[in-house]
Amino acid sequence: MSPLVADELAQWAQYIQSATGIYLDGSKGYLIETRFAPLLKEVGTTSFGELLRRTQVDTTGALRRKVVDAITTNETSFFRDNSPFELLQHKLIPDLIDTRNRSTGAVRPIPIRIWSAACSTGQEVYSIAMLFHELKVDLKRFDVRIFGTDISDRALAAASRGTFAKMEIDRGLPLDRLGRYFATDGQTYRVKDEIRAMATFRSINLLEPFTFPHKFDLVLCRNVAIYFTERDKARLFGSIARVMAPDGTLLIGSTETITGICPQFEPKRHVRSVFYSLKVNGS
Ligand SMILES: C[S@@+](CC[C@H](N)C(=O)[O-])C[C@H]1O[C@@H](n2cnc3c(N)ncnc32)[C@H](O)[C@@H]1O
Repeated sequence: MSPLVADELAQWAQYIQSATGIYLDGSKGYLIETRFAPLLKEVGTTSFGELLRRTQVDTTGALRRKVVDAITTNETSFFRDNSPFELLQHKLIPDLIDTRNRSTGAVRPIPIRIWSAACSTGQEVYSIAMLFHELKVDLKRFDVRIFGTDISDRALAAASRGTFAKMEIDRGLPLDRLGRYFATDGQTYRVKDEIRAMATFRSINLLEPFTFPHKFDLVLCRNVAIYFTERDKARLFGSIARVMAPDGTLLIGSTETITGICPQFEPKRHVRSVFYSLKVNGS
């Protein structure tokens, strides 16, 4: 493998940012070297510049998808960071059910639409589905659909399978939930049908225009905008604001903030957690 030279790093950084929004500064050459080493072998070249050229001329898009799979960080876990899930369990979901239940003239079953934007391998989606079961929400009266989207095909395929290795289960899933919501063959753990049935997965690049046939009551967009420039962050959360119900709620990562970046939202605090609502008069 030939070492990555400064020009190649600059060209790769530009390509990756336009393909995914992920911003790599000059110190991130090691990421390209380590993540793309297997792709170099697969393609049969030792040059990072040549790999980029082949990716750019590949009209099938297959190499581009492999590059995206390699460069994205798909780190996630069940009930990641705990407190957003406590907020969901003890406030956001009960309040949402209560509000939709009281709304007059509602269609039946009452639609509840949730979006896990950048869901990676699906743990966030399935964690939310488990909460609806634990809260004993009447799933005949409420049509709860949780949409999981990501830019990485490999992550989405894993999410859609709903099968997890012991190592993934050990990260955040308490034993009682494991017993209740998973079946195992001794090696892997598969989410039960009642949980899997609430989820739909689809490929979406958050920095390209997206539309949905409905508005979302709840959006989780956690730990993805940390890779974007401020400008792309503002664009992303502006687009999310447009697909949310007027009384919808947005949750972002626990180390993130959109205050001062996205004027459409206002922060609200509950116990130790922060969530965002749309401002009544928009921006
Ligand atoms: C660190 S994971 C976060 C997963 C989950 N939201 C969580 O907090 O546990 C970041 C995810 O963002 C996805 N991603 C990166 N850029 C994206 C883009 N432009 N559009 C959609 N997803 C993207 C990656 O593929 C990856 O799965």
